[in-house]
Amino acid sequence: MPGTSTNPVILTNEERRELESRAHKHASPYNDVIRAKIILLAAQNLPNDVIASRLGTSRKIVSKWRKRFCLARLAGLETVPEPIAIDLPKPFASRLTSLYAGEPQLGEDGMEHPIDTTKVSVAQGMWLYSLCCKVRPRKTLEIGFAYGFSTVFFLAAISRNGIGHHTAVDPFQRQFWHGVGLQNIRQLGMEEKLRFVEMLSFPALIGFAAAGEQFDVIFIDGNHRFDDVLVDFTLACGVCPVGGHIILDDMRMPSVQKVVGFIRANRKDFVSVKALVENTAAFRRVGPDTRDWDHFRDFRRASPISSSNSWDDRVRRVKQTIVGLVPRSDSFILVDEERLGMGDSVSGRRRVPFLERNGEYWGMPTDDEHAIREIERLRRGGASFILFSWLTFWWLDHYSGMRRHLYTKSRCVLEDDRLVVFDLREKGMSG
Ligand SMILES: C[S@@+](CC[C@H](N)C(=O)[O-])C[C@H]1O[C@@H](n2cnc3c(N)ncnc32)[C@H](O)[C@@H]1O
Repeated sequence: MPGTSTNPVILTNEERRELESRAHKHASPYNDVIRAKIILLAAQNLPNDVIASRLGTSRKIVSKWRKRFCLARLAGLETVPEPIAIDLPKPFASRLTSLYAGEPQLGEDGMEHPIDTTKVSVAQGMWLYSLCCKVRPRKTLEIGFAYGFSTVFFLAAISRNGIGHHTAVDPFQRQFWHGVGLQNIRQLGMEEKLRFVEMLSFPALIGFAAAGEQFDVIFIDGNHRFDDVLVDFTLACGVCPVGGHIILDDMRMPSVQKVVGFIRANRKDFVSVKALVENTAAFRRVGPDTRDWDHFRDFRRASPISSSNSWDDRVRRVKQTIVGLVPRSDSFILVDEERLGMGDSVSGRRRVPFLERNGEYWGMPTDDEHAIREIERLRRGGASFILFSWLTFWWLDHYSGMRRHLYTKSRCVLEDDRLVVFDLREKGMSG
């Protein structure tokens, strides 16, 4: 019966405008469009099964997004953190699920606080987590704690690795963030693995250097003004050993792009680390800083991965690439977490989701072996190419065994800021 839902949806004008714009933007991620439509129909007081049948989805899905919206409004419609659930140790996955769902969070004052959108993306967090699982750092450091999204990923890696200690620097944790980040760590029982430094990054980094401290992975996500990021990086170099990594968040910002341009042109003691996720720049230290006292190479602003174009542009160019590479009537595997909304085929080329079961998207592989087995199965079934979209570049780091398999058993025919593509028709692809 209409109107009987326990989660009635009443929209503000602003929410309605935003949802309508999402629902009608055809090139938006498919999931965003469906979620927006669910909420707009729910606001018409329609029951879940009617909404489900109108949108060709399940009642369960409708009920889930209606509940999430009622709980956290627009923030509740954000990315489903599926990758988190699949790989992170359970308590960390649950904490992050609550955070990414936009649920109000407990502060140090014992009160629940609504949270805004300040955070690393799931893809960025998983990339940091994968990096830490791979290099097993003894000490990690981040500038910028806020609600502690990135911190939870660091601590999840420490828990998984069985070694490591994390330092988070943020002078405003209590003042602006109600101590939510600290409270998260308490809820995880990880206080012993975290040192919180309630200071501006500059004096904190100088203090660490003076004490002879070093950190194997450093994540810079504090003040995003050009000079602050540059000084954070420069001071971070003082506590980064050879082999260590420095990662900068917010490559969508010109200030960060400018710093990255400087590093690439001038700091030959660092190399760029590839297969980046969107909005992130990463470097590995390969030696000491041996520049002359007057060294300077002029530099341009680095271009961010994918963000120079709109979503529509990117999707259009992915389609063009598919048409140019994949022979008509062949099939191709598209790894996009079902976010590009490509449909079942692109100009006569059949799209196979990854993972796939009976033609449907079936979530992420549990591990490398699972991923390789499935790629091989689909190859035998006739898929001629596998394409990783920029949204899933981090898979190539996370499933490093799968990446090795692809690079050694097939030809990588394209690698740019939108796609990494392997030709599966090559000989020797036997698994
Ligand atoms: C984008 S948020 C960090 C988000 C966090 N990494 C996450 O994923 O949840 C930026 C943080 O930097 C902090 N911040 C701003 N200026 C700073 C500074 N000079 N030194 C250290 N932290 C700073 C802010 O208080 C804020 O918490």
